Amino acid sequence: MSTYGTLFRVTTYGESHCPSVGAIIDGCPPGLQLSPTDIQVQLSRRRPGQSNLTTPRDEKDLVHIQSGIEHGYTLGTPIALLVRNEDQRPKDYSETDLYPRPSHADYTYLEKYGIKASSGGGRSSARETIGRVAAGAIAERYLKLAHGIEIVAFVSSVGKINIPSSVGGRAVSHDEDNDEVEDALTPEFRELLKTVTRETVDKHPTRCPHAETADRMTKRIIRAKEAHDSIGGTITCVIRNVPPGLGEPVFDKFEATLAHAMLSIPATKAFEIGSGFRGTEVPGSQHNDKFIRRPDGRLGTRTNWSGGVQGGITNGEDIYFRIGFKSPATISQAQATAQYDGTAGSLAARGRHDPCVVPRAVPIVEGMASLVIMDQLLIQNARVHAVSHLPPTVGLPPSMAMPKVLKAGSSAPVPGQAAADEARLGEEVQSSGS
Ligand SMILES: Cc1cc2nc3c(=O)[nH]c(=O)nc-3n(C[C@H](O)[C@H](O)[C@H](O)COP(=O)(O)O)c2cc1C
Repeated sequence: MSTYGTLFRVTTYGESHCPSVGAIIDGCPPGLQLSPTDIQVQLSRRRPGQSNLTTPRDEKDLVHIQSGIEHGYTLGTPIALLVRNEDQRPKDYSETDLYPRPSHADYTYLEKYGIKASSGGGRSSARETIGRVAAGAIAERYLKLAHGIEIVAFVSSVGKINIPSSVGGRAVSHDEDNDEVEDALTPEFRELLKTVTRETVDKHPTRCPHAETADRMTKRIIRAKEAHDSIGGTITCVIRNVPPGLGEPVFDKFEATLAHAMLSIPATKAFEIGSGFRGTEVPGSQHNDKFIRRPDGRLGTRTNWSGGVQGGITNGEDIYFRIGFKSPATISQAQATAQYDGTAGSLAARGRHDPCVVPRAVPIVEGMASLVIMDQLLIQNARVHAVSHLPPTVGLPPSMAMPKVLKAGSSAPVPGQAAADEARLGEEVQSSGS
């Protein structure tokens, strides 16, 4: 379906060649200070035609706010956002009247709906992701102001070119009998996750924050483009300052909702969180994230193989994950394939296409991450609020509650908190004599 989220609900609309694309966002908290620039910045990072590494389709992707925001503040009512499709060339797609593009969505859409948009990818086009990015920018604004949450994604590989482990990539071991793990998350990788910013990511058109690797990635993408071919890649994303307690086990465990959101982005084929597949090679004695007391009194972990999520619930450590994007399907190289009626033939697609999607997918990943955190945060806030109005629990065995010496996470429900606050307020009012 085209709606994502439970309490922060985003519905996107639009196809590649219709008059406009956009989103309606329901459930945004009122009173959030928001300017069109907050949204436009991310849309401009996503828009086509940014460099010679992306499709030349020339769209400015200017956002038009239709409702829900006045005098720079959200009203708490549905926010409608519209972006016009301007640079359309539907005729470029006439050959796909006969041929479903191999590994694109033409065949499956037609099989499923029995009808499809007359040109381009229709609903499966990456134009749809404009609505996600715009909505994500609004969520992100709330997350930043309310919790200081930071979300940064970057390109970590293109084809076989990876950020090297010595400067922040992931270590790879080929010695199958050696359990002594050189930390799969190298200190450099952890440092990169701690320090990487959108400014450093945007210094290079590939959006890889390691300059030497970025140059090699550029050459790889240009090579694909010149061969009328395409190439895939991966994006790594880190989310910092996430409160503990987000995620709704069992079916909506935090990483499950994150994977759902990420794998709904067009062209994605893989998702891993924390140590991911690498974690399968590491003995538990080394993979376990041992607890320590943090300066703020909460429990933290010494390492972070878990990627900030345990039991499907955030634990307050950084969340980091990686997504694999396939090589885009539409290539102008001739491919031996079949027409809709099964007749064998050759398709050399026309139209304007991305030789590699990852540089433009960076803000889409950030947008979807924002939507996931925002929705989970509102859900947990509702629980905390509900529980805080109950009288305190009494007579529980120690095994059932967090010891008083340790502060519970800021978002964990504390029964009786509202009653205690009200009693304290009453005392303060009485002692102030008013
Ligand atoms: C930012 C971005 C740009 C994309 N550009 C293209 C493109 O130019 N050509 C293409 O064939 N696919 C492109 N895609 C991917 C298609 O939208 C997607 O592969 C297609 O809808 C099939 O869906 P699936 O790959 O998710 O199975 C792009 C995806 C993203 C995220």
